[in-house]
Amino acid sequence: PAPGWAIDADVVVVGSGVAGLTAALRCTAAGLATVVVTKARLDDGSTRWAQGGIAAALGEGDTPEQHLDDTLVAGAGLCDENAVRLLVTEGPGAVRRLIDTGAHFDTDDSGTISLTREGGHHRRRIAHAGGDATGAEISRALVEAVRTQAVRTIENALVLDLLKDAEGRTAGITLHVMGEGQHDGVGAVRAPAVVLATGGMGQVFSATTNPSVSTGDGVALALRAGAEISDLEFVQFHPTVLFLGADSEGQQPLVSEAVRGEGAHLVDAYGTRFMLGQHQLAELAPRDIVAKAITRQMQAQGAENMYLDGRHFGADMWEHRFPTILAACRSHGIDPVTEPIPVAPAAHYASGGIRTDLRGRTTVPGLYACGEVACTGVHGANRLASNSLLEGLVFAENIAADIAANGADGSAPDAPTPVPHTAVDAERDGGPVPLLDPAARIQIQRIMTNGAGVLRSAESLAGAAERLEAIRADERKAAVPGVEAWETTNLLLVARVLVAAAAAREETRGCHWREDRPDRDDAAWRRHLVVRLTPGRT
Ligand code: SIN
Repeated sequence: PAPGWAIDADVVVVGSGVAGLTAALRCTAAGLATVVVTKARLDDGSTRWAQGGIAAALGEGDTPEQHLDDTLVAGAGLCDENAVRLLVTEGPGAVRRLIDTGAHFDTDDSGTISLTREGGHHRRRIAHAGGDATGAEISRALVEAVRTQAVRTIENALVLDLLKDAEGRTAGITLHVMGEGQHDGVGAVRAPAVVLATGGMGQVFSATTNPSVSTGDGVALALRAGAEISDLEFVQFHPTVLFLGADSEGQQPLVSEAVRGEGAHLVDAYGTRFMLGQHQLAELAPRDIVAKAITRQMQAQGAENMYLDGRHFGADMWEHRFPTILAACRSHGIDPVTEPIPVAPAAHYASGGIRTDLRGRTTVPGLYACGEVACTGVHGANRLASNSLLEGLVFAENIAADIAANGADGSAPDAPTPVPHTAVDAERDGGPVPLLDPAARIQIQRIMTNGAGVLRSAESLAGAAERLEAIRADERKAAVPGVEAWETTNLLLVARVLVAAAAAREETRGCHWREDRPDRDDAAWRRHLVVRLTPGRT
């Protein structure tokens, strides 16, 4: 739709989690006229829900090199080592700058930051806040800083598409704003630099730890704008989400890996620990290994869930170290102090996204991406626990530095360095973007969970592709334009590309688990899948 109003800026940042607000604060500090656009309220994204914490080599005896090693192992051969090196070396300083911005982390009596462990980490390396409310504290501090520095924000605004100039360079975004007075309805923010920090796409599945706003809007926009997307098949399923019944859909309560980091055990209904002997780190193996082991155990025993037993922590530790999880469990009638917590895996994190270089540049000049929406190369085939808040911080800072250094005209944005990759053809016959009826959302989620969830095969993926295509063909009529229709349209686009990538990758690697191709195949598949749609196509 044609914009009914427009405002101008040097930079528009889309999204208000750790990545978006860090980018906005740093751009503002560099003197750039910055506008933050966010779909709901400033603190409504995924960052607020992060429990475990933020990983950085801050502890005595820990080093960026050890953090690098753990990240590369988790990434199963597909991390970009330069990107990981940047993450782990810049990480400790970025966390200290976050503290300077106002975030309070838990400390011991001497004021030293308390560190915990999570899956895949060989050391205590995870800084946390409020026990298990790390994201909430980071979000609070960043929102407060954005307000103190009077950064211009537009809330309740869904980004629609990228504006480009005649040379194909970024010129801003179109957006749909709801109920914000002067700037209501469809409008535009014109800016030569756009930073996408729109978060993930967990809502493409039926059960997820992600809030309802995580509908893949940034990836869908980037696809429509002709940017390259990479590694979309690597969807991470968190091993331990509170199990509320097989038919429970939407956002599910997370039970942080830090609970296992502090010594809770995974057990079956008979109380047997099944991670022993499966991996040297047992319950603290990398996330994909634990999620697979839980799923296998559920299949072998015909069970809908497994259990996390932390009764030995005692009431005091539960109340002080894990108050959020304790409250969530108790609100569902489960008391972790006296009984094991029923858990099952659920969609948690998109390891792939919009392909960027180390400065956060995408393949479209002037368009940047950071946070979960980006594929910077640090996660490879499986993100290491608590690396995501850190990635958001570090790459957002780099983006702000790049925009500031190159001027607000976003000049000289080289494309990211090429990586060995295979292109996926997700292109179909096009035409104008058909807006979907929001009723299709639940159908898409069920198709994805059944056909492209934790367990995948050529058959399940072909079935999912066929059913998604049927929705696209069926719903070619325009629904009433509005946020829900656009979100559903975005979900369908990212679901189709995700399924195409998962079908193309004929191996099992990291969090991509193909039952019909159970082995990792380095000779054929140690490379990335890159998707690029012809602009204007869906
Ligand atoms: C958790 O607390 O288990 C989540 C940590 C993460 O996803 O990085």
